[in-house]
Amino acid sequence: MKNVLVLGGTGFVGAPVCEMLLRQGWQVTVPSRQLSNAETLHRSLPEAHLLELDVHDETALAQALAGQQAVVNLVAILHGTAGAFEKVHVDLPHKLARACGAAGVRQMVHLSALGADSVQPQSAPSMYLRSKGQGEAVLLRAAGCVGQQGGFDLTVLRPSVIFGVRDKFLNVFAQLQKVLPVMPLAGATTRFQPVWVQDVASAVVRSLERTDIASAPDVPLVLELCGPDVFTLRELVQLSARLSGIRGGRGRPVLALPGWLGRWQATLMELAPGEPLMSRDNLDSMRIDNVASGKVPGLSCLGISATALLPIASAYLDPKQFGLVPGLPT
Ligand SMILES: NC(=O)c1ccc[n+]([C@@H]2O[C@H](COP(=O)([O-])OP(=O)(O)OC[C@H]3O[C@@H](n4cnc5c(N)ncnc54)[C@H](OP(=O)(O)O)[C@@H]3O)[C@@H](O)[C@H]2O)c1
Repeated sequence: MKNVLVLGGTGFVGAPVCEMLLRQGWQVTVPSRQLSNAETLHRSLPEAHLLELDVHDETALAQALAGQQAVVNLVAILHGTAGAFEKVHVDLPHKLARACGAAGVRQMVHLSALGADSVQPQSAPSMYLRSKGQGEAVLLRAAGCVGQQGGFDLTVLRPSVIFGVRDKFLNVFAQLQKVLPVMPLAGATTRFQPVWVQDVASAVVRSLERTDIASAPDVPLVLELCGPDVFTLRELVQLSARLSGIRGGRGRPVLALPGWLGRWQATLMELAPGEPLMSRDNLDSMRIDNVASGKVPGLSCLGISATALLPIASAYLDPKQFGLVPGLPT
């Protein structure tokens, strides 16, 4: 039996990753900061072994890694201070690399993000992307000593924005248009290349089983995970309305905000209680397009053909759930 530890396995990408790994015969263990965060995963995948663990505690992490052949790191935050990004995206990879060395774990798949740059991390426009690039660099350096004690086979996956039934992206655009009279939108012209969560999960599983692809298994592989289509943010907002039937599919008028007004809106959202919908750092990320660079291999390198957004999203953005059924008065 192959054993794998899936950090961040309770999240949006984690659930299909765990499901596919179990289907492929892996024994899956998922640490979570709080077992209550893992309830949904436990209900859908009772075969996955859950563990309450502070992944930032290096000793506890090394203990959890003992006896594992592989580790998948899906832990990340989207909002926070520079210190919080550093802790989760840079310090945790450091600890993970050392703990893998101590426990003899030889395979790692690490989820990064499109736009991160491990060679020049500081060139990225936001704290999120800069810290993601630094985290990649830490792992690529640590994996470089394959063959020596502490080395491991590494795959770094950089997805664009990810869509799927439980996404917080098209679902949120649809929910907002259900209640707002207009959609004030910062970064309306930024382009994205959304990738399906099931394709991302397949990429994780195939990365762990990569013996049949161009790169030798002991050479770190960096891949960009993108869908087949490019959309501006404005087009994605409009698409979410069309598919969910908001105002008979017409959606709300999109009000593209100039930069200064977008920052003001993001500041207000950061001040609101709970997880912000948007932060100034998110806006900084959107200063560059989130599309394939063309310089790094993609899903096809793992034998995966990228799935189009439209047929998948139209199945889960159900007009009966989100909007007003076309034809009814709005
Ligand atoms: N979703 C996207 O559109 C997207 C796009 C590009 C890249 N990615 C990358 O893909 C990976 C998975 O993303 P996702 O959307 O599945 O994320 P997610 O749903 O937010 O899940 C992340 C998991 O990490 C754990 N976590 C969160 N904050 C933590 C902290 N401060 N310390 C320790 N653990 C923490 C949580 O598990 P517990 O609460 O159980 O501890 C959570 O379930 C991430 O690396 C992300 O950057 C995602």
